[in-house]
Amino acid sequence: INVLAVGGGPGEGRGDPETWLAYGSQDGVTRIVDIETGTRLHEFAFERRPILALAVSPDGTRLATGDGHGYITVLNTQTWSIETDFRAALKGPIWALAFSRDGAVLHAGGIENIVYSWPLADLAGFDPMATDTPQFLKRPEDMSNGERQFARKCSICHALSADGGRKAGPTLHNVFGRRAGTLPAYPYSETLLGSDIVWSAETIDRLFLDGPDHYIPGSKMPMQRIVAQRDRDDLIDYLKTASATEATKGDTQ
Ligand code: HEC
Repeated sequence: INVLAVGGGPGEGRGDPETWLAYGSQDGVTRIVDIETGTRLHEFAFERRPILALAVSPDGTRLATGDGHGYITVLNTQTWSIETDFRAALKGPIWALAFSRDGAVLHAGGIENIVYSWPLADLAGFDPMATDTPQFLKRPEDMSNGERQFARKCSICHALSADGGRKAGPTLHNVFGRRAGTLPAYPYSETLLGSDIVWSAETIDRLFLDGPDHYIPGSKMPMQRIVAQRDRDDLIDYLKTASATEATKGDTQ
């Protein structure tokens, strides 16, 4: 057994007695047992081993595991189902995990001298179990300015992959040349449905020069302006390539 964590309790709040104990082992299995009786409640096994890190979110609703192959799995402890399973950009194993106090951010560490952090809202957009498409999550200093603009200001709501993930906004895959509001599966606002804007370098530039609240008033996209011309140019340059290639499946953050 490499790691232990406890959780549970009626209200899942602080001070409630724990009801389960989770342990991650060398054989790559995370087991959850009833803390009173030792009865095995749940078991999560992957072809990967060993389990090296466990963390419980402060409200007790999530349990994150990190393994020797560099994968992080986030389990929902209310349903005991897998919320996210992804390969982090860390080199080598994940051997340290921690949730932020508000439970919104997951931090991870391994062999490198760096801590990586992800907003959990973003992780919801990762394909669960996409084990053959590792997500190369990069550090801001390794990104171009355009990619960083996208990562910071857009990626929480927009995917670049064809399938679009499960994000609040429509995917920006092939956005150039697309008429606004025309992705069949996305529930657009009336504003975008009735719009005759065609997305191009010029219209995307206007969108963030004026802000969505002015350029497409009534849209569901929150108010946000990108004031510096250079940041808009770099973002648009980045989007031109990134929205057109399958290689960007998933998102950088
Ligand atoms: C907090 C979430 C959020 C953020 C951040 C965000 N968007 Fe959006 N975006 C949306 C939503 C929601 C829509 C759909 C709006 C509607 O239906 O009115 C949208 C629509 C769009 C559209 C129109 C797509 C189409 O199919 O017509 C473009 C282009 C776009 N966003 C680009 C961006 C870019 C570039 C950024 C970053 C600078 C960004 N958005 C940041 C939520 C967001």
